[in-house]
Amino acid sequence: MAVIIDGKEVAGRLRRELRDRVKALRDAGTVPCLAVILAGDNGASLSYVAAKEKALEEAGMDGRDFRLPEETTQAELLSLIAALNADPQVHGILVQLPLPSPIDAGPVIAAIDPAKDVDGFHPVSVGNLVLGRPGFLPCTPHGVLVLLREYGVPVSGAHAVVLGRSGIVGKPLANLLSRRDQNATVTLCHTGTRNMADICRQADILIAAVGKPGMIRGDMIKEGAAVIDVGVNRVPESGTKKGYRIRGDVDFETAAEKAGFITPVPGGVGPMTIAMLLENVVQAAETAGGIR
Ligand code: GUN
Repeated sequence: MAVIIDGKEVAGRLRRELRDRVKALRDAGTVPCLAVILAGDNGASLSYVAAKEKALEEAGMDGRDFRLPEETTQAELLSLIAALNADPQVHGILVQLPLPSPIDAGPVIAAIDPAKDVDGFHPVSVGNLVLGRPGFLPCTPHGVLVLLREYGVPVSGAHAVVLGRSGIVGKPLANLLSRRDQNATVTLCHTGTRNMADICRQADILIAAVGKPGMIRGDMIKEGAAVIDVGVNRVPESGTKKGYRIRGDVDFETAAEKAGFITPVPGGVGPMTIAMLLENVVQAAETAGGIR
């Protein structure tokens, strides 16, 4: 039976450790502040944003909340971002994705001052990540690396198989894992991949970020592998309060019989995303305040 990677516990510890840094900033007259922009009423986005705002408050940081209607235009978003870029009291800017169609997220993200890009989605941040230069790391991929490190999963020399090529998770994770500081051999699988099950069975570290509930089953997993489930899928279920339950991309029961380590959903990667976001906001505030 696999070791269950407790992301909630690790994230809680990281959040407690951040308190000292927040206190030092506050003592120096700076309250770390994140502006969160949410356009439209996507259900998953609403709950992510609510969780981020609660976490900010608990950490002693400021959250500025911009809830915009579905019909918001790109021009309106760009002018809000310009104002937030110019506001010295705002240290981080987060535009919750996906944006309502037909808004093109690319120019919106590119309008954020890279010094405030705490999501790590700006092309400058992406470039720094690929080049191995310092910069904001995207929160979910960074959280995955921290979980592997905290549980002593060997990464250097391992074959890491990443499923999914999204700009938020799969692509940055594949790049991070192949950097010299992680030193894994990486295979990135996507919808064009043939023999995906065979490739999965070669993985020492298998990371699923595909958005397909329960797709990865025990027979696709090498004995002893570390299985990281980034999937957050709403599966309709009658008799539940919300009418759905959250399920990962991994079929936990069969996978846990083969894996050496496994993240549960919920309680695995999810809490880490928020902890890494808070850390990026603190980092941005420290840099702006000349503390680090
Ligand atoms: N949508 C899904 N995950 C994320 C995230 O980490 N940041 C933002 N801005 N949007 C998301």
